[in-house]
Amino acid sequence: MNILLIGDIVGKPGRKVIKRLLPHIKSQYNVEFVVANGENGAGGFGLTIDTAKELFNSGIDVLTSGNHIWDKKDIFVELEEGNRILRPLNYPEGVPGKGYTILETETGKRVCVINIQGRIFMPPIDCPFMGIQKLLDSISQDVKTIIVDFHAEATSEKMAMGIFLDGKVSVVAGTHTHVQTADERILPNGTGYITDLGMTGPHDSVIGMEFEKSMKRILYQIPFKLNVAKKNLRLNGIFLNVDDETGKCKEIKRLDIPYEV
Ligand SMILES: [Fe+2]
Ligand SMILES: [Fe+2]
Repeated sequence: MNILLIGDIVGKPGRKVIKRLLPHIKSQYNVEFVVANGENGAGGFGLTIDTAKELFNSGIDVLTSGNHIWDKKDIFVELEEGNRILRPLNYPEGVPGKGYTILETETGKRVCVINIQGRIFMPPIDCPFMGIQKLLDSISQDVKTIIVDFHAEATSEKMAMGIFLDGKVSVVAGTHTHVQTADERILPNGTGYITDLGMTGPHDSVIGMEFEKSMKRILYQIPFKLNVAKKNLRLNGIFLNVDDETGKCKEIKRLDIPYEV
């Protein structure tokens, strides 16, 4: 099965990129399933029901997230009731929403998507390693294609997760830093891996935000409101081919596509 994973979509510019480029990429690569990180989809912070709908209408199947999913409260109901928007699995019990979903593609193939979050330079939530192991032990062996979005800051933690899950899932793709890494590969036991998918949004920015306000925050340590930047729009992500019988990754290709061609 051909799968597309897309890095953090930032605000309206990011959604604009998805709307224009996604249909072309899907037909070019014959993509059957699309997962994107949507934690910055609404104004750069969080996700609303309307922005999520817009992204689904543009061809995304599942939206994963991370630490920013809590920024817009109107999504909480959808997190709780729907099965296409995830929050990281390893938040404490009692937090709204769910950390994984199992869906069927149009051709009847089952795909599991799991969202977990790191703990280095991040909120000290439950252990992502123990959390995902426990979940994998409970998932039916019939589900072969398993996609993991590991939302984390530290390269070391992400790489350790890749190796920890090698042979147990189809792909471990990092998100959160908004900077794409050039280390995509297939690990020895058949799991596709990349430390970070990168960002879908304005790249002439400080990880998606206008330089001036970001600089003020950094210099003065006052939480000035940040604005989403506008220039150099790009879609970042990876294309994957996964063997339907074994769930192993057969091909991984990094994508960094400009909005203006
Ligand atoms: Fe993000
Ligand atoms: Fe994040």
